[in-house]
Amino acid sequence: DKDGHRHFMAKEIHEQPEVIAHTLSRYLDPASETMRLPEGAFDFARLDRLTVSACGTAYYAGLISKYWFETWAGLPVEIDIASELRYRDVPYTEGGGALFVSQSGETADTLAALREARARGQKIAAVVNVPESSIAREADVIFPMAAGPEIGVASTKAFTCQLAALACIAVAAGRARGRLDAEAERALVRALLETPRLVAEALAGAGEIEAIAREIAEARDVLYVGRGVNFPLALEGALKLKEISYIHAEGYAAGELKHGPIALIDKDVPVIVVAPRDALYEKTISNMHEVMARGGKALLISDREGIAEAGDGLWRAIETPTVHPLLAPVVYAAPIQLLAYYTATAKGTDVDQPRNLAKSVTVE
Ligand code: F6R
Repeated sequence: DKDGHRHFMAKEIHEQPEVIAHTLSRYLDPASETMRLPEGAFDFARLDRLTVSACGTAYYAGLISKYWFETWAGLPVEIDIASELRYRDVPYTEGGGALFVSQSGETADTLAALREARARGQKIAAVVNVPESSIAREADVIFPMAAGPEIGVASTKAFTCQLAALACIAVAAGRARGRLDAEAERALVRALLETPRLVAEALAGAGEIEAIAREIAEARDVLYVGRGVNFPLALEGALKLKEISYIHAEGYAAGELKHGPIALIDKDVPVIVVAPRDALYEKTISNMHEVMARGGKALLISDREGIAEAGDGLWRAIETPTVHPLLAPVVYAAPIQLLAYYTATAKGTDVDQPRNLAKSVTVE
């Protein structure tokens, strides 16, 4: 039942504040402001490297977590899409850990990568939504994500719940490795606890996003750019748009534009710039100005300060609440998903059942 929404995807987008909160409650104790991991989780203090793997949207969640594991835990992360990792000659280290991310728990390539890592002596953990799935059964440890059933083929709430779970795991890893002290842990717990409210605020901008999406629906190609933790979100934005609206879209690290993709820019190509007012903001904005100087249409997604500082000449802007800089993808996922959703509804595509796609990819 779609709960009054036109599509499951819309329902699932709007459920995010609630299910993110549920997911967080599996990991953090609001009273003591500390993080706890399930029994038998990795011995993060001793781990020398974590291998992370997944497919599609779940892979982008994993890619975002790499920034978190590095910054909060100083933990080296090897990450690859599962269909590559499983066939690579990965130099796994003795006693290493491998973490797989999957909504369905049935993705064939992810399962095969898990089995390969197990055969190579790695301890296996999984961030998985369906508890009775193959990946959940075969993992040594399950990190839960309480997204509830996801029906729409395009992953939305599973993505932000994966992020919530991964952020908690990375904070716990940072604490175990002595990289975060108790005060730093408390500050991150508080920042995480704010995300459901911030996502709700971001979702309240749906009306304006729908109007912008009607214009995006006219485009043939769309570029998404971001830096740091927002680079994987740019990749996710492009994936979401192409899979449900069938508009060609690409995500790039903003710094890569001048190494090729800027050749695509003309007055018909919207460039969606994900740039919260963080330490990388100025660099990203200067990339945006390069796009604008070539006649490109810049759509900036940022907070109030970020939009104000960007200067004149933006094609459109979407204002997002201010959020802890490393947690921006959790909140910025909302406008990214709504843009794809409304672009698709403007084009009249089958949002919940896009052509050629299946909810769970059990073939290799
Ligand atoms: C995109 C999407 C897919 C899945 C991918 C992995 O919206 O839904 O890219 O993320 O097929 O699926 P799971 O997470 O079930 O392993």
